[in-house]
Parts: sequence; C-alpha cells; structure tokens
Amino acid sequence: MVRATGLVKKFGDFIAVDGISFAVQRGETFGMLGPNGAGKTSTLRMMSGLSPVTSGQLEIDGIDATANPRSIRDVIGVVSQHDGLDPDISVRDNLTIYGFYFGLDRKMAARRADEVLGFFDLRSRGGDSVDDLSGGMRRRLTIARAFVSRPRLVVLDEPTTGLDPSSRNRVWEQLAVLKNSGVTIVMSTHYMEEASILCDRLVIMDEGRILGSGTPEELIRERAGADVAQVRPEAGQRDSVHRQLKETDYEVAEIGAIFTVRASNDRRADLTKISGARVSFRPPNLEDVFLSLTGRGLRDE
Ligand SMILES: Nc1ncnc2c1ncn2[C@@H]1O[C@H](COP(=O)(O)OP(=O)(O)O)[C@@H](O)[C@H]1O
Ligand SMILES: [Mg+2]
Repeated sequence: MVRATGLVKKFGDFIAVDGISFAVQRGETFGMLGPNGAGKTSTLRMMSGLSPVTSGQLEIDGIDATANPRSIRDVIGVVSQHDGLDPDISVRDNLTIYGFYFGLDRKMAARRADEVLGFFDLRSRGGDSVDDLSGGMRRRLTIARAFVSRPRLVVLDEPTTGLDPSSRNRVWEQLAVLKNSGVTIVMSTHYMEEASILCDRLVIMDEGRILGSGTPEELIRERAGADVAQVRPEAGQRDSVHRQLKETDYEVAEIGAIFTVRASNDRRADLTKISGARVSFRPPNLEDVFLSLTGRGLRDE
C-alpha cells in the first residue's frame, strides 16, 4: 500500500526526515514510534499529500505521491493532531460537510455520517455542538471523520496523545476493530504500549532516521533480549548503588530515580546482592528497545 525509498524532508537547511525507506502491506497496521522531533509528523504529512516531498520516492496505492499529492488526498483518510473541527455546527454536520469535500452528494454524505456515528458510538451526540464533547469523544469524532470517505488507507498522527487512560483505551478498542475490518493503518506514536498493542509492524525513529524495524516481538527479542532489572535505591543510597552497578559489566541506564539494567537471566543473582536497593525483574518492552538503540528513554525531551 505504501512504499517509501530514500524519503527526505527538509525545512530550509534543516533535515527533518533523513532518507528513510519502508513499506506498508495492505491491511496492515504500521507504526512509527519515536520521541518528539523524530520526524513522524513530517513523514505522515508527506504521505497525506499535505507537505511536498523534498527528495526520494513515495508511492501510495500505486500512485506516485511526489507527483500527485492531490490524488493522494482523495484516497486516504487523515487524522492529524490538530482536529480542525468546526465548533459552530453539530457533530453530525461536521461529518456530512467532510463528505462533501470528497464529492459525496447530500444523501450519501448523510448516510456515511450516520454509519460512522454508529460505529464510533457517537450517535447520541450527533446533534450536539463539538464544544460539548469530552476530549476523548472529540478524538473519536476526528477519527470517525477520516472514515466518512471509506478510505483504504488511514493515517493517524499520535491518535491518543493528551487523552486520559480510559479515553485512550476506548480509542485503542476502536482502532483494533477498524484494523480487523481490513483497512490499512499507518500511525505515529510515542507510547510504546500503543505501538505494542496495535501495530503489526513498526519502525523506531529518532532524529529523522529509522533505527530499527520489525514486529514488536522481533524488535524486543533482537534488541532487548532478556528480562530487565529495575534497581530502586533506598533513600540516600543512590550514589552507593550506582557505584556497585558500575562494578558489574552490565549495561545500566538511569531513568528517573530508577536504574534499568539489562541482565542476562542466568546472572540475576549478581543483582539481588546489591545493597541499599530494591531489585525487581520485568519482561523487556519497546521502551528498552529504544533505550538500547539510542541510549535515551522515549520520553526524554
Ligand atoms: N514547518 C517546519 N519548519 C521548520 N522545522 C520544522 C517544521 N516542522 C517540523 N520541523 C522540525 O522537524 C523536526 C521533526 O519534526 P516532526 O516531524 O514534527 O517530528 P515528530 O512528529 O516526530 O515530533 C523537528 O526538529 C521539528 O522542529
Ligand atoms: Mg508529531
């Protein structure tokens, strides 16, 4: 559905996307995981026909996106971080008017608006003003709107950023249903849980480059490996614990007030000997993959 080769986005002399290559299969949910500034939005905007490609190739559903950004806009659904909903008209009218942009006639636009309201559990709010919706409902409406034109590819830029945990879960549930309906989804996120739960495959991005790619399980197996030890120093023990850890040959990172240690499973005993700290073990996750690729946490700014 999507093939990018050596894709570059520059703003003046600044390189926001530095020659990335990836492919998205039909029906797949594909993720771009990375911190702020990684180049996710710049990539998605090029894919959505909203921002010119500086260089490289980008093909979407057989269309050369560098030459035909307008045709791209007709075939894909876009959910950007800024929703652009019209607060002066009802929820339902926001959807029907969006349908008009895609050339639907009044009857068809009304029918599609009705379908997506039902699908996204917003039917009872159809007559309300957009301003009366909660943050979570507003986000669901923005996602619903992208489906009015029945796109084969939907691009979502950080679909749950800024939502509380329960609204986030709600959006995840709905994205999982959409995924099962066969639509191709490309999404960006800086939440590793979101990427692990929803994405069939993903790329890990930082500073305009792709550092790793694969299924969440592959990335974790290849880049993070064994269980991760979390070493929490007791009050006043940070320096002593740090010294003890430095004497081991483990890879240690300090995130917040906790040391994260990549330890092979057969050497767990070494760590439990550390004094002045509580040690626990957990399975590795995509955050650990990011850490091993960049030496930083995903949420460091
Ligand atoms: N319109 C713009 N003009 C100049 N620099 C930009 C513009 N948009 C994004 N950037 C820069 O490009 C880099 C990548 O940004 P972006 O694609 O928004 O990353 P992400 O979505 O991963 O946070 C950032 O350093 C950002 O400041
Ligand atoms: Mg962004």
